[in-house]
Amino acid sequence: MRNESEVPLSDSAFSIPVADRLKRLPPYLFGKINKLKYQKRQAGIDVIDLGMGNPTDPPDPLITDKMKESLADPRNHRYSVANGIGNLRKEVAARYHRIYGARLNPDDEVIACLGSKEGFSHMCLALMGPGDTAIVPAPTFPIHAYSVMLAGGNVIQLDVREPHKFLENVAYTCEHLFPKPKLVIVNFPHNPSGTCIEQSFFDELVALAKKYKFLVISDFAYADICYDGYKAPSFLSTPGAIDVGVELTTMSKGFSMAGWRIGFCCGNREMVRALATIKGYYDYGIFQSIQIAAIVAMRHCESAVESIAKEYEHRRDALVDGLTRLGWEIERPKAGMFVWAKIPEPWAQMGSIDFSMKLLDEAGVAVSPGRGFGEEGEGYLRLALVENSQRLRQAVRAIGKCLKPETAATV
Ligand SMILES: Cc1ncc(COP(=O)(O)O)c(C=O)c1O
Repeated sequence: MRNESEVPLSDSAFSIPVADRLKRLPPYLFGKINKLKYQKRQAGIDVIDLGMGNPTDPPDPLITDKMKESLADPRNHRYSVANGIGNLRKEVAARYHRIYGARLNPDDEVIACLGSKEGFSHMCLALMGPGDTAIVPAPTFPIHAYSVMLAGGNVIQLDVREPHKFLENVAYTCEHLFPKPKLVIVNFPHNPSGTCIEQSFFDELVALAKKYKFLVISDFAYADICYDGYKAPSFLSTPGAIDVGVELTTMSKGFSMAGWRIGFCCGNREMVRALATIKGYYDYGIFQSIQIAAIVAMRHCESAVESIAKEYEHRRDALVDGLTRLGWEIERPKAGMFVWAKIPEPWAQMGSIDFSMKLLDEAGVAVSPGRGFGEEGEGYLRLALVENSQRLRQAVRAIGKCLKPETAATV
């Protein structure tokens, strides 16, 4: 007889048959880099981490104070309203009107989400299914493609770095694909490429949506982080936009509340209702204290948002100036939290994954390889502006030092 200590803890002959939808996802490209980053940290080595767009600055104290105060009220610890409390939805509508001149009905054209990513992906689940096609921006912020794929839909990736060409390609695809695309996803300021647009882009997009009868989701995550006086336009301030689509916004970036998980989906009421239906089954809404603190944030902390954007602008300058001095060709982004940098010669042929590994291993600087954003991202790196200017200058020095011997050997 076997004693208890001999009972195997796992039976290797038993495999878990995961759903086919998981098998549609491509391999995770950041695995190797994340492993090396972890090993370095374990060994006590300082890594300057520009990998993820995860804000490191705290929210305004007014927001955290309101959060603390609301924690004392036992009513806030119950399940909240799934769509977001009424005053929060009113505040979102008021902010849209104040900043973009867009009028939204808070009752049925605004819904609160557990971060904009949750709202975005569940909206795709609500709209897309087998046989449906979505056009997504390329290079691609992964969830823009994967949420369509997880919903069973097909993806066509179109380069967005020249926005007018993107629109021409959308029209061309609509003319030649049968069945026509059901959904067009846009994201300006764009992650990762930093591409920005003017209002006329949305005018044309709405006209195309009406002509070819596709829906639009605008991911407006970087709405609040604009530089040099540029003001990113909102899809919803375009006449007719609300007939064809929705826009996702977030408190993660401009208010530095990424971990709080609060964002919004606004616009077409049938699309908002479809999202509300899915969310009604999947979740019970956002912790009420967070919603209350978010109201205070939007009502009283607009100047904090401006300071946060200014801080990112200083960081952008520190990084772009530094890398330009090293001879890199970089466009200074007008908005967003990233610098999208072309890998300089003679390292371009290494490929962005191996080059990122080299920067991490030899310079102690973690970046995202462009290949992680699809084939159109190859040849580029994405550097997130999540460390302060001094650390960014330190990163530039370390990169310069790490690349110097090879420059001397090959140039
Ligand atoms: C383009 C884009 N959309 C959405 C998100 C997700 O934001 P949230 O924190 O609101 O889920 C991000 C986060 O990095 C992003 O870059």
